[in-house]
Amino acid sequence: MFKRAALWHEGVMSANRLAGPSIWLDPQDSGLVWTIDQRRLPHEVRLAALRTAAEAAEAICTMVVRGAPLIGATAAYGLHLAAVRADDRALDRDLRGAAAMLVSTRPTAKDLEWTVARVMARAAEGTTPEDKRRRVLEAATRLVEASAEACRRIGEHGLPLLEAAAQRHPGQPVNVLTHCNAGRLACVDHGTATAPIYLAHARGIPVHVWVDETRPRNQGAALTAWELGQCRVPHTLVVDNAGGHLMQHGRVDLVLVGADRITRRGDAANKIGTYLKALAAFDNGIPFYVCAPESTFDPALADGVTEIPIEERDADEVTHVAGWGEGGPSRVRICPEGTRVANYGFDVTPARLITGIVTERGVARADEASLRALFPEWP
Ligand code: MRU
Repeated sequence: MFKRAALWHEGVMSANRLAGPSIWLDPQDSGLVWTIDQRRLPHEVRLAALRTAAEAAEAICTMVVRGAPLIGATAAYGLHLAAVRADDRALDRDLRGAAAMLVSTRPTAKDLEWTVARVMARAAEGTTPEDKRRRVLEAATRLVEASAEACRRIGEHGLPLLEAAAQRHPGQPVNVLTHCNAGRLACVDHGTATAPIYLAHARGIPVHVWVDETRPRNQGAALTAWELGQCRVPHTLVVDNAGGHLMQHGRVDLVLVGADRITRRGDAANKIGTYLKALAAFDNGIPFYVCAPESTFDPALADGVTEIPIEERDADEVTHVAGWGEGGPSRVRICPEGTRVANYGFDVTPARLITGIVTERGVARADEASLRALFPEWP
């Protein structure tokens, strides 16, 4: 069982310290789920309490929680909250309603529907309302814990990539470029792209991370820089357009990014701008790896560019920059009133630009045969 809640309640965890999972059940009240309100980071560590499926859905929609594995975990616990609050006669109907509501919150990350489908399948095996509630809780807890474990194993499978880079120039740090936040905050623990980095750092391999700021929501600046700082991993924040320049000048050894949905052929959707980094890496002969657990794969899809749904988000994420002023959260407009805006949340990196995909089962080439060898159960 995860420890963060206990630490928090005992006051052991300092207000700025990141330790333990990003989402957990209250140890005293199983109808209460805690997470970190990521909209306040890095300025304030504030917990968010979720008591209903609607609150879980709202937390996903409003980016209190974000990142593919974490929104999957939030949806799993959201179904548990729906089951806890439903009366016996309405249980099936409420679970179905909650499942539909949770899956509809964000369209791109496969992890949402993957997790919800598994919890609902487990609920359907129940024979009485009490049995269904028990199965939902068991399934949600198991999936959340398995999600953390998958990321830990992504770290183990990704570590040799950093070890190899370190051997190429002994004594020099391995320079990794990453985009968005594919870290602990985006997952239940460890992160996807950050898992090999944290492990390398723990094993004494010198690592330095170039952190893309990741406009428009600045997940790199606000979240990745914060969590790497918490774990004392050396890093440098750069604007999104700096990656090509760094690569041309030999300042990047490899690129590690997460993903929100990966097709059976290995095309990978991730935060907008990832594709441009892959192009620059390809042009400069720099390895470009995507790190993702099983829950992110969508074997029903082949061509990512045409088939993966791409979320379009509110214009004000682009027209305004959010930050922290003297009085707390603050926003400033950066373009003329009335400017027309397009705000695509994700883009797709075609498999041909991806050196490999690091999963909890090992590293695959970004092609169907290699992925099927890791996931033989795919239809
Ligand atoms: O819009 P977000 O912040 O949810 O986007 C998150 C990303 O694109 C991450 O890189 C992705 O979910 C991989 S996370 C481990």
